[in-house]
Amino acid sequence: STPTIAVIIGSLRKQSYNRQLARAVERLAGDRFAFQTLGIGDLPLYNQDFDQDFPASALRFKNDIEQADALLFVTPEYNRSIPGVLKNAIDVASRPGGSKTFAGKRAGIIGMSPGAHGTVSSQQHLRNVLAAVDVAVLPQPEIALQYREGLFDDNGDIVDERARKRLLLFLERYEAWLR
Ligand code: FNR
Repeated sequence: STPTIAVIIGSLRKQSYNRQLARAVERLAGDRFAFQTLGIGDLPLYNQDFDQDFPASALRFKNDIEQADALLFVTPEYNRSIPGVLKNAIDVASRPGGSKTFAGKRAGIIGMSPGAHGTVSSQQHLRNVLAAVDVAVLPQPEIALQYREGLFDDNGDIVDERARKRLLLFLERYEAWLR
């Protein structure tokens, strides 16, 4: 059956390039995967007191991750690392202690930034964090795309041929690795 992919976007802004990238990748993938984007903006800031009585939104988020066959992180870079909202979401889902939400999951990581080397550091940091919660990340290809005006057409598809090819290669490798 079609693998279900939980998509986690590391930006909350409406016009996020990474949100646009996620939508474009979903269309490129066609019917190979069933994608579900998990909102992280309404998760509470993690507090270890939660471990006695976990908030409902956090439990739902954990459940959505557990139900998914695999994860796809689409994230910007903030100050050479992952945005706080994304780290918070991972911290929330990793608890309470002994929690198996992430255990043995597989993930892909992609990102977009207007900067030439944007999201490379962010992706390296995210790999470290995911190792700590027992999530395996597809090693290659790394997808750190540079945003520029006109990269997305009116339908939200990526017009740049090189970027499209990289994303198709990523999807091919990701799908084969998940099998
Ligand atoms: C940024 N930006 C950024 N870009 C980058 O390539 N490396 C970086 O370290 C940072 N640092 C950074 C910190 C903060 C607090 C902000 C708000 C922004 C720029 C960032 O790539 C740009 O705002 C993107 O548009 C963010 O991604 P979304 O929201 O478009 O998906």
